[in-house]
Amino acid sequence: MDTVSNAVHYVFLGAAACFVLGLHLMNHPRTARRGNTVSAAAMAAAIAATVWLVIHQGRITATGWAVLIAGGLVGAALGLWAAREVRMTAMPQLVSVFNAVGGGAAALIAVNDLLQTDDPAALGARVSLPGALDIVIGAVTFSGSLVAAGKLQGLVPGAPVAFPGARLLNVLLPVSFAAGTVWLVLEPGSRAALCGLLAVALLFGVTMVLPIGGADMPVVIALLNAFTGSAVAMAGFVLDETALIIAGMLVSSSGGILTKLMAEAMNRSVAAVLVGGFGTGDGAPSAAGAGGPGAAVRSVSADDVAVQLAYARKVIFVPGYGLAAAQAQHELADLAELLTAHGVDVSYAVHPVAGRMPGHMNVLLAEANVPYTQLAEMDEANAVFAQADVALVVGANDVTNPIARRPGNAISGMPILDVDRARSVVVIKRSMGHGYAGIDNELYTDAKTGMFFTDAKQGLADLKAAVAEFVG
Ligand code: TAP
Repeated sequence: MDTVSNAVHYVFLGAAACFVLGLHLMNHPRTARRGNTVSAAAMAAAIAATVWLVIHQGRITATGWAVLIAGGLVGAALGLWAAREVRMTAMPQLVSVFNAVGGGAAALIAVNDLLQTDDPAALGARVSLPGALDIVIGAVTFSGSLVAAGKLQGLVPGAPVAFPGARLLNVLLPVSFAAGTVWLVLEPGSRAALCGLLAVALLFGVTMVLPIGGADMPVVIALLNAFTGSAVAMAGFVLDETALIIAGMLVSSSGGILTKLMAEAMNRSVAAVLVGGFGTGDGAPSAAGAGGPGAAVRSVSADDVAVQLAYARKVIFVPGYGLAAAQAQHELADLAELLTAHGVDVSYAVHPVAGRMPGHMNVLLAEANVPYTQLAEMDEANAVFAQADVALVVGANDVTNPIARRPGNAISGMPILDVDRARSVVVIKRSMGHGYAGIDNELYTDAKTGMFFTDAKQGLADLKAAVAEFVG
């Protein structure tokens, strides 16, 4: 190995160490931004080192450079634009599209490597096996992530899509992966094996995600993220690139851990999610009554709620998807500040799957500069709900639904925030419409619950004005 190759390998090693450090820093909201910067800087260094190596080896033609530069510019511009412009509520779709791009790119690397080689027979299982796995995992991730993004964007129905023979197909397709992989390993130059494997994997991505309900999408997206990492690691084996292998495995293992955490937060096993989900996806606000026909609902005004809040000693805010949809995080933080100044103990209860993506509420609240010390995770919050004078639920629905404690419904067993244990409850939402899981919420017909029917942003602004007037 010459000096440049040696130096590049040291850069890769340093980058890998920084990826691990970056992940570690992402453990806490206070250090997460630094973690992101460290990882991004390491990735930039790894890319720069790769370019240096490529120039040093003189392996690329002028056309190759033109394609590389054009691709880099278009990709960077699109990534920058998407990250800046996409609304926070559409972030899960964006993550899913990024997964698709990562998986697709990894699969293309293997396709290219297997097609370009002059002597396929000489490749050996060391390249053809990871190549075949790269194609399978990358292509499944590509098509599966596009379907998941379509579901979250409302382009594909959010409810489970069932079709005759789906289960049989989902068993037969993986069997054909195994056959195709063996064929490609034995005959690495076979275009029929390569195209067949690619087609079956693309089809499997679609048939795997279509029957999964919208409410299970967080688990699916985390799982597809783990798949992207595995595909990238396989691409690393194909290209013999240590940095790709390490980065891919880090994404794969962190995605795997996230999948497990998300599944646990919804009390579902990953297998149960993949076999068939529940949920209807987002719907328009409806006048449907929670708790069944005739259930009494107590409607309250901004002034009623302001009095309750101003007299309270302890108030717990419970943010949910509606807060993100209304972009009302700043109004909520302002209200908290006003109440805190008035001597009220204010905290925020954050459910792990509140919103539409992992960490959705944390990101929103951080954007509004809510102090981390006021955030309470689910278990922590559940321990103190009984001492709260008011639980103020803002645009959260499923994650507060007491019906989850009973068997036989779509969210049975899902851990919830025990909002109903607070002395009184106020819910801000626009109507009696359902949440993501598409079921009635018993909290709304609880005698101690007051429903403040309004858009979250408008309602919180009204509430702040009413509290300010009340406390003088
Ligand atoms: P949801 O159960 O989806 O309920 C959100 C509520 O917000 C709706 O009932 C809606 O009622 C209300 N809302 C919407 N826009 C509003 C606005 N402008 N102002 C006020 N309220 C508004 O939300 P959640 O409690 O956060 O639960 C999350 C759900 O999404 C879970 O089922 C979870 O499994 C699923 N999910 C989570 C993720 C992740 S990773 N977090 C990803 C995908 C799916 P109105 O229409 O009556 O206003």
